[in-house]
Amino acid sequence: MKITVLTGSPRKNGTSNYLADEFIKGAKESGHEIYRFDCAKADIKNCLGCNACAMGSKPCIHKDDFAELREHLLNSDIILFVSPIYYFDMTSSIKKVIDRFYSIDPQLKEKNNKAVLISVQHSPVEQVKDIINAHYQAIINWLNIENIGIINAVGIESVEHLKQTSYPQQAYELGKSL
Ligand SMILES: Cc1cc2nc3c(=O)[nH]c(=O)nc-3n(C[C@H](O)[C@H](O)[C@H](O)COP(=O)(O)O)c2cc1C
Repeated sequence: MKITVLTGSPRKNGTSNYLADEFIKGAKESGHEIYRFDCAKADIKNCLGCNACAMGSKPCIHKDDFAELREHLLNSDIILFVSPIYYFDMTSSIKKVIDRFYSIDPQLKEKNNKAVLISVQHSPVEQVKDIINAHYQAIINWLNIENIGIINAVGIESVEHLKQTSYPQQAYELGKSL
């Protein structure tokens, strides 16, 4: 299967990218094809809400990295969303990319994709993850995408700390199980 990985952290060697790498390692071992898109590094312009795309009937007017991502999204079976929690939700970098889904909204709905969410938060308070989970679920419901797994890494202080938890193994096994 083809898997598009959308990462939301600006920190290349941070905790959520560590979990993304573990997931990718497992998925590759099971023979899946990965396209990784680091949202915080990409040239992605804000959706202008201009409606020039007529919500999917015409191309988006922006000329940026979304053009390449678009093709992968439309040819993927699974989308992995990986983000640290910033102020109780996904980062603005990944949200900016999701806003651009507007220009391929009907095409995504027709595909009946599957999706996975991986989040990382510093807070040990379990409820902090509720908003990102609800947000992810609302987005995928809208796009007729089926959730096939959520990993919320809670109370993570650093990559070294993360490595001492079961979350990397969970991410690896989820990727491998697909
Ligand atoms: C701008 C900003 C906002 C954050 N907001 C939250 C938050 O609301 N709740 C929380 O538990 N952690 C919050 N954190 C901590 C990060 O979620 C945590 O450090 C995470 O491991 C960072 O992921 P990364 O290592 O992949 O960059 C925030 C960090 C930053 C930089």
